Amino acid sequence: MEVNRLILGDNLEILKGMETESVDLIYLDPPFFSNRNYEVIWGDAGEVRSFQDRWAGGIDHYIAWLKERVEEMYRILKPTGSIFLHCDWHADAYIRVEILDRIFGANNFRNEIIWCYKKWAVGNKIFCRNHDSIFFYSKSDNYTYNQLLQQRAEATLKRFGNQVIVSGFDKEGKRIPSKTTNEESKGVKMYDWWDVPIIPPSGHERIGYPTQKPEALLERIIKCASNEGDIVLDPFMGGGTTIAVAERLNRQWIGIDQSAMAVKVTELRLQKQAELFSAPYTVQLHKYDYDTLRYKDAFQFEAWIVQQFGGTPNAKQRGDMGIDGKTSDGAPIQVKRSDNIGRNVVDNFKSAVERFDKNLFEKNIAAKKPVGYIIAFSFGRGAIEEVARLKNREDRIIKLVTVEEIVPIATKPAIGVHINELEKDEKGNRKIELVAVGQSAAGIEFYSWDFMYDAEKGFKPSIIIDKEGKQLISLKTGAHNIAVKVVDNDGLENVEVVKLKINGAVEQIE
Ligand SMILES: C[S@@+](CC[C@H](N)C(=O)[O-])C[C@H]1O[C@@H](n2cnc3c(N)ncnc32)[C@H](O)[C@@H]1O
Repeated sequence: MEVNRLILGDNLEILKGMETESVDLIYLDPPFFSNRNYEVIWGDAGEVRSFQDRWAGGIDHYIAWLKERVEEMYRILKPTGSIFLHCDWHADAYIRVEILDRIFGANNFRNEIIWCYKKWAVGNKIFCRNHDSIFFYSKSDNYTYNQLLQQRAEATLKRFGNQVIVSGFDKEGKRIPSKTTNEESKGVKMYDWWDVPIIPPSGHERIGYPTQKPEALLERIIKCASNEGDIVLDPFMGGGTTIAVAERLNRQWIGIDQSAMAVKVTELRLQKQAELFSAPYTVQLHKYDYDTLRYKDAFQFEAWIVQQFGGTPNAKQRGDMGIDGKTSDGAPIQVKRSDNIGRNVVDNFKSAVERFDKNLFEKNIAAKKPVGYIIAFSFGRGAIEEVARLKNREDRIIKLVTVEEIVPIATKPAIGVHINELEKDEKGNRKIELVAVGQSAAGIEFYSWDFMYDAEKGFKPSIIIDKEGKQLISLKTGAHNIAVKVVDNDGLENVEVVKLKINGAVEQIE
């Protein structure tokens, strides 16, 4: 199975297309109705649609919506695999009884992990709701499980609160060394309640996404229920916490989200942590960027578009007589990675097709079927007229197919950056306001900044999500490269690099 993929789409459809028993671990943190403003985070079309989907008819509808997805997850899990379903008081009881017990079987219930945290919580005449539940089920008894340990002191301290500290001192206040066995000094078996702080608003992990989960939680789950090289799936990936941690822990991964923004934010998060040896990955959006396709490696493009068209590409780099692939009926396909294809291309193709397989050629003419296909970005008038002439005069049908008829294409957003020089700060550094302005027919979703851009290392965002496109920074004397990316509602992006020289005043180079 193709791994290390970020996929845009409704997870139900994507899961249905995945192989049975192919995944080692699934973590899911599905959204639940609480209040619309809080829950609709990205605000893009995909997310709003999914919100309406799952909450059309109350809790029963929600459970049915989630259940059919968990059924698919069960199918694609390996017999040694496990699932960790993250939820809270809104639906935890329904999810355990109506979904997990029924699909995985109550006998495969392993733990209800309580993630407890401290945060300001509202509520009248109730205890503060300061925990989530993570249900851990395995597919069989023979499941991957690496025992995790936790520090004894931490465990005891948490468990008995002040008592440990009090009993750890004698009457004069001197510390009494506690006796521990070797086993105990390594730690004790991890409990099923996890005291992991939520990410503080200014924490380095925070990407500006309210339901983002701490990496420490995912670290425990992934280390415990998978091994290096295993495949970890998050079908509700959000800001990509699971994917970022799985990548760091040398697991393979697949992330799915219905929001183009979630997919792009996860991609930027991976770029931020990428190292020289990070594994390559692919991002599957719904629209393809014209420029990226048009200037892609020619052979790669030809093979890819032939496949998207439902054909089989040539294995050889150089096509036979300019033929780049065949349809399922064997009819030849030629790919031109350019616009405005002229009459001569059609004429040359006609001769090539005839020589390529004379029998098939004659058969297709007799059956009034196309003798071949030319795929290109666009066709000129000469080519269109020539195809009409061949059909009328010689009964030869050559089909001209534009790339856009095969895959949806859009133009990437445009971007410009304005620089406003402000006064110096208290340390004498130059203060600058950077204002990025993007334009796209699809609408701009967010900007992302790399204040120490290095072309060799690639884009490594200092700030992943900036909805406004405005940044105030202080720069020391010297040269600075700043890159800003703009992302539109289709998930297409563009980047602009600003080179600045600070020497008393601000000078923009190039
Ligand atoms: C609670 S968030 C996940 C947060 C994530 N665990 C993190 O740490 O950032 C839920 C995500 O599920 C996505 N989602 C909702 N319905 C979906 C569906 N049917 N298919 C795929 N993704 C979906 C939403 O777009 C949202 O990003």
